[in-house]
Amino acid sequence: MENSKLKMEKIVSLTKRRGFVFLSSEIYGGFSSCYDFGPLGVEMKNNIKLAWRDEMIKNHENIVGLDSAILMSPRVWQASGHLTAGFADTLVECKSCHKRFRADEIEGQGRDRGGTVPKVCPECGGQLTEPRKFNLMMKTFVGPIENEAAVTYLRAETCQGIYVNFENVLNSMRLKVPFGICQIGKSFRNEITPKDFIYRTREFEQMEMQWFCHPKDAKKYFEYWKKERLNWYLNLGIKKENLRIREHKKEELAHYAIAGADIEYRFPFGWREIEGIHNRGDFDLKNHSKYSDKDLSYYDEETKAKYIPYIIETSGGVDRSCLVFLVDAYEEIEGGRTKTTKSTKEIEILLELHKKIAPIKVAVLPLVRNKPELVKKTKEVYQMLKPHFVCQYDELGSIGRRYRRQDEIATIFCLTVDFESLKQDDLTIRNRDTMAQERVKIKELVRILKEKLED
Ligand code: GAP
Repeated sequence: MENSKLKMEKIVSLTKRRGFVFLSSEIYGGFSSCYDFGPLGVEMKNNIKLAWRDEMIKNHENIVGLDSAILMSPRVWQASGHLTAGFADTLVECKSCHKRFRADEIEGQGRDRGGTVPKVCPECGGQLTEPRKFNLMMKTFVGPIENEAAVTYLRAETCQGIYVNFENVLNSMRLKVPFGICQIGKSFRNEITPKDFIYRTREFEQMEMQWFCHPKDAKKYFEYWKKERLNWYLNLGIKKENLRIREHKKEELAHYAIAGADIEYRFPFGWREIEGIHNRGDFDLKNHSKYSDKDLSYYDEETKAKYIPYIIETSGGVDRSCLVFLVDAYEEIEGGRTKTTKSTKEIEILLELHKKIAPIKVAVLPLVRNKPELVKKTKEVYQMLKPHFVCQYDELGSIGRRYRRQDEIATIFCLTVDFESLKQDDLTIRNRDTMAQERVKIKELVRILKEKLED
């Protein structure tokens, strides 16, 4: 347990030191478990979003995108059931130390995990209060007057924007069931216990896809999407032994779901949900039809049948995936990988992110920085590569130290310009994972790197 805590502390420290993640409003002491993504974090996050979008839109047929507003009519949240007890966590507080917990998360005691109502504080052993419900919607006001009529909510899930646009998308794109609508965007929840770094925060990004299908096909597609989503993580290099699917028990199903399953990851703090797959039945379209008075059923031209499609949802978090990729890729090598330099006494950090996810693809390094002709040539190579890849130029410190600095942030290739380069117009490419080096002609570089990054 102590080792796990230490691993998380090291990852949090690395992400701050190297510009992945910062505490929000840090100069004011931070704010409410909110985080900012730094220069490398934002590249990584964009890569995750791109990989997800490509998977949905390019690797599947009949899935289209959407970018709906964060603010919506409050009627949406009445129809969705989010303003009632359905979207609430159960809060308990310790009468001695006054720490607050989500009742379902207290190990061995939580009702939702098959236990009873928790009674004992997991921190100090004190007595817990009776559980009470706590709604997670973030309230705000629209317009200058802060009265009840002006109340709305920051969305708690992006999918509601998809449901209310079901008809618009269906008609404008002339789609036929089955089809999917996907979107990525911010969601907000007034979490009782935000914790574990960027695992659970009050502001986060979701990647959600809603698959509209005939009710008789819903079970089949629920199974299909579970496999597809698990494979997405595996194909991006997440270790198989750290992933699993956990089916929801009846008593823990979300208020909208007929069936549900979580893709879970083995974090240093335990197995936790990273993505939910739900069979939402006709709950959403039926309720939005009822509340809006618009018929949201689908007419099948071929069978002449009219019905409300069932929805299979895949719902993952961008920030949570970011943590998964970081934790899974983080490795410490005692004594270092390079046996030929002084570094052998140090612990080396290697971040083995998949090449699609790594924030920096290429670092361009002069062998030494006190030779102007080497520096000039290296900067020319850097300028040539910059429009094609996310690159860094680095001349500070010994070449071995610079390689290690790049390994620590997952840079896929280090290119070194040396004295030979001045005569031969070539350079060495060093592979992050194997440390193997090969010489290539500078004029071939863009093509070679593209091939290596895309294969
Ligand atoms: N539309 C269904 C839905 O929102 P969910 O299981 O509540 O389902 C789906 O959330 C995913 O969104 C989670 O698996 C997680 O990746 C992400 N997520 C939810 N709450 C989060 C939070 N407070 N912080 C970070 N990510 C969160």
